[in-house]
Amino acid sequence: MRWLLRKRNGEAFIRIGNKWKLGFVECNRTVVTSCRAVLLPRFGGPEVLELRDNAQVPDLKSNEVLVRARAVSVNPLDTRMRSGYGRSLFEPLLPLILGRDISGEVAALGGSVRSFSVGQEVFGALHPTALRGTYTDYAVLAEDELTSKPASISHVEASAIPFAALTAWRALRSTARIKNGQRVLVVGGGGAVGFSAIQLAVAAGCHVSTTCGGESVDRLLAAGAEQAVDYTTEDYEVAIKGYFDTVLDTIGVPETERIGINLLKRGGHYMTLQGEAASLTDRYGLAIGLPLATTALIKKQIQYRYSHGIEYWWTYMRADAEGLDEIGRLAKAGKLKIPVEKTFPITQVREAHEAKDKRLIQGKVVLDFDELKPTDHEPVQ
Ligand SMILES: NC(=O)c1ccc[n+]([C@@H]2O[C@H](COP(=O)([O-])OP(=O)(O)OC[C@H]3O[C@@H](n4cnc5c(N)ncnc54)[C@H](OP(=O)(O)O)[C@@H]3O)[C@@H](O)[C@H]2O)c1
Repeated sequence: MRWLLRKRNGEAFIRIGNKWKLGFVECNRTVVTSCRAVLLPRFGGPEVLELRDNAQVPDLKSNEVLVRARAVSVNPLDTRMRSGYGRSLFEPLLPLILGRDISGEVAALGGSVRSFSVGQEVFGALHPTALRGTYTDYAVLAEDELTSKPASISHVEASAIPFAALTAWRALRSTARIKNGQRVLVVGGGGAVGFSAIQLAVAAGCHVSTTCGGESVDRLLAAGAEQAVDYTTEDYEVAIKGYFDTVLDTIGVPETERIGINLLKRGGHYMTLQGEAASLTDRYGLAIGLPLATTALIKKQIQYRYSHGIEYWWTYMRADAEGLDEIGRLAKAGKLKIPVEKTFPITQVREAHEAKDKRLIQGKVVLDFDELKPTDHEPVQ
């Protein structure tokens, strides 16, 4: 039995051994009952985001962990959700809290959680459809959505990794099941998912080629890609030689799909991040859009199996405990990094979203819970 022994600034502390630790769960009731959170009350531009002081912290289920956020990254999904992507699913459930990635400290544990202890530094990511996101002082994640944060990386660096890397993991490891010695092409390797995919494939012993903007070429080659073609100045259909076992297309427009599929060996896997499930359900509603999306996917799968002998997939991020552990190990070994270009304090979340919307910042943006002003970061080499 754990006992509440002290209260300070609305937060409860318990004594574990000789140390005072924040938070506990008794009968599934967390002690921290309210905190700051960025709410999305309606869809729109950055101005719709509201930082509130009194967001409710829900009771933990037995498999859940309360994480005190130190840094959360801004993913394209956050800005897209804010603008109305996934409206068919999310609109009836507003207000919701944005944010998928997090790095922070364990504040409290559900009754059956065994992998973590209060005070431990962790990082991880929520599923794309989670309603209570991570733009909050206290986020709730399932045990298998978190892993131990390596001491060698900061919370800011850690928060940039999991959502993107888990998306790449799902495509390359769970779907295509890449193996040592295979050839992998990452179309659009400069972004967070593409860069993660390159590093995961290199770590798996694959030979990696990629396309990217000119500024990203050196970074991608330094991460182990054997060929990085600047698609803004070169015709990569000509520049890339031979055929691949796997193509991950982070751009997912008709041209990249055509080229990616033509560069596959028979039996190879083409995976796009731009599946149409959400856009079709937004356009036609869940009842019509979802079956339409399933039909469209199956049609393409049959068509490409027949015409090219390849497997075609829409790939989506999904939490994966094994993947997250491997991502943690690679991050600890310095073999998986996502460069962070700029941090904003959580109080400037609107400015952070505006910078991404207006493409003022190309690279990763992180919301820092410890900072009071924006900071530009040196690119990671
Ligand atoms: N289906 C899913 O579950 C899922 C999950 C995650 C993401 N996505 C989608 O996949 C796409 C990519 O996501 P992401 O998280 O990788 O986005 P991102 O990090 O914003 O990258 C997008 C693009 O921005 C450019 N870029 C990024 N960092 C740069 C830098 N430091 N310098 C120069 N250019 C840079 C890259 O283009 P260059 O090639 O020019 O370098 C990159 O292709 C988005 O459309 C997103 O919505 C889907």
